[in-house]
Amino acid sequence: MLSDKKIVLGVCGGIAAYKCADLVSRLVKEGAKVKVVMTKSAQEFITPLTFQTLSNNRVITDLFAEPQNWEVEHISLAQWADCLVIAPATANVIGKLAAGIADDMLTTVVAATKAKVIIAPAMNTNMYNNRIVRKNIDYLIDMGYLFISPAEGRLACGDEGLGRLEEPGNIVEFIKRVFDKGEDLKGKTVLVTAGPTREIIDPVRFITNGSSGKMGYAVAEAAVEQGAKVILVSGPTTLTPPQGVELVKVTSAREMYEKVMEYFPLCDIVIKAAAVSDYRPVNVSSQKIKKTHDNLEIKLERNPDILYELGKLKTKQILVGFAAESTNIFEYAKEKLEKKNLDLIVANDITRDETGFSSDTNAGFIMDRDFSMENIPKMSKHQMADVILEKVKQLIK
Ligand code: PMT
Repeated sequence: MLSDKKIVLGVCGGIAAYKCADLVSRLVKEGAKVKVVMTKSAQEFITPLTFQTLSNNRVITDLFAEPQNWEVEHISLAQWADCLVIAPATANVIGKLAAGIADDMLTTVVAATKAKVIIAPAMNTNMYNNRIVRKNIDYLIDMGYLFISPAEGRLACGDEGLGRLEEPGNIVEFIKRVFDKGEDLKGKTVLVTAGPTREIIDPVRFITNGSSGKMGYAVAEAAVEQGAKVILVSGPTTLTPPQGVELVKVTSAREMYEKVMEYFPLCDIVIKAAAVSDYRPVNVSSQKIKKTHDNLEIKLERNPDILYELGKLKTKQILVGFAAESTNIFEYAKEKLEKKNLDLIVANDITRDETGFSSDTNAGFIMDRDFSMENIPKMSKHQMADVILEKVKQLIK
């Protein structure tokens, strides 16, 4: 339920604006208090009266209108809101927000608010895939804005593809999840691993992989937000650690193994998003290896499989693994879940654009011990972290 939650809905100028009448009606039925802000273009598609009637509140359309109570309206709205939802969000408004432009009521309220901002884009597929629009979306995700990816289907312009506003029912569910987070993990200790490992060959060379750490850092941040004590065991990354985590820096797989083993008995939940190197050079050269032969052979030996070892040791802990796969995703994920004695496995397809290594977004599925799966459509890594924690919480219950 959204009882007494204060939601500002910003409606922009797109044909999907009509769907927001349904959205307001659903939010009000859920008990939310809704105030609607409309851009000038939005009013070309639907009248303020519709939203006024459904929300039982005056609709705000003009930054310079005479305020009803003698207060600065965009500031008071920004402070009133528990959450701001922009739907449909056009390429124009997304661009303005990414550039920090605040030139109308909606953009000034966004600029002035400290509340969570949820953006549900809707536009033509080619516009949505336009590199500048994607860059703006990625930037806003980095800045902490939450995005509800548009759905695929037939668009108003006649094209088929990604760009339809997500259904109002799903938008409401998303908003509920944002509010529901609460402090559900209070009292729990969560160990998260993130990033790559480095296996040293000589003083200037090492074996590593393309993990940026973003997925693991997002999980750590989401767990802190939900009240958990979080230990983040991180391979080398360039990321700023989320506030509130205990950061344990490691370089090699063996160091990660040692640290994880040290903290494991204290933990309730372990989420292993790190991309750990399975092999390391047998010999580490103390001097830089010189080009003396045409071919150079480096003999490798196995690193410990940290998750496999945890699976053998686990008592009360919930173990969540990741599977980064390029083929037979389902089979390999299932195999790892069983072999490593996991409670959940998150499989991500690393062959897809904008998912897996280094991207800001991810997609895949999450599988439990009964092999039942939940599909995870493309979303920000932060949102995916919330989905994973939601599953973990269901197991705890
Ligand atoms: O860091 P990002 O750029 O955001 O990218 C995120 C990611 C793609 C790295 C992440 O989402 C992911 O999939 N991480 C796991 C990558 C991986 O190593 O998968 P794997 O299938 O090789 O390993 C399976 C599981 O066993 C993983 O949870 C891994 O942490 C763990 N493992 C693997 C090898 C090993 N020696 N010890 C382990 O604990």
